[in-house]
Amino acid sequence: MKLIPTGAALAAEITGVDLRAITDADFDRIHRDWIHHLVLLFRDQHLTDEDLIAFSRRFGALDWAPVQETGRRFVEGHPEIYVVSNVIENGVAIGSLGAGEAVWHTDMSYIPDPPKASMLYALEVPPAGGDTGFLNMYAVYESLPPDLKRRVQGLQLKHDGTYNSGGYLRLGVDAVDDPVNSAGAVHPLVCTHPQSGRRALYLGRRRNAYITGLPLAESEALLEELWSYANRDELTWYNRWRPGDLVLWDNRCTMHRRDAFDSGARRIMHRTQIKGEARPAA
Ligand code: SIN
Repeated sequence: MKLIPTGAALAAEITGVDLRAITDADFDRIHRDWIHHLVLLFRDQHLTDEDLIAFSRRFGALDWAPVQETGRRFVEGHPEIYVVSNVIENGVAIGSLGAGEAVWHTDMSYIPDPPKASMLYALEVPPAGGDTGFLNMYAVYESLPPDLKRRVQGLQLKHDGTYNSGGYLRLGVDAVDDPVNSAGAVHPLVCTHPQSGRRALYLGRRRNAYITGLPLAESEALLEELWSYANRDELTWYNRWRPGDLVLWDNRCTMHRRDAFDSGARRIMHRTQIKGEARPAA
């Protein structure tokens, strides 16, 4: 195995590994590299759904696919494999999130114990577009001026569960556009990563987010200020997908987004999400 850092603010590629046949020692090394680089790319993999589940389970128990605009779209017989796709078969969407942009978010942060990690495996990709970007949330926290770090210390953020990152209403959920009263889960705004011990800003989706206990206008103003530190290209890395790519990311210290692509092209991705714990406050 060879580790090749991307040179960006996060992420590394690991070459020379077949994820179907790793040893415990290989796994320990991958885990260490993942904690250090936050996002890992493995190219040219040949994984069945069972292989994807087996590699994912090395990191812990798996969550089921989330409920999206199309309901819970998962691989038949594998409710833990979430299908991200724009493909329609016999008039039915095989996956979720369509072909539009998916905005910055961290996975399933609207539940009390959001997944600590996710991995996305590319089966079919469009010739252009559909790139996925990752953002280093340690670096975002570290870039805050000292007075802003003091202001956010101890605050709690409600992460909205109404709309997904594609802007779609989750199936079966009422459309509520009031951040104070929308459904979601509350987490510390600044969290300590249990393995690295580093602090990260835990933002989740911007839409309907609310800093609990503050008047709405104050919450909005503070969130706008915080997002201005997050929306910085120099803290990101993007993957231009090839079939057979597997990307593993840490939901505790990164966010991700996806570029739109031509809705006439096919994109099929299978994702697993590894169960996490309540986010520890810094
Ligand atoms: C996701 O948010 O997990 C999906 C990202 C993508 O489609 O690239």
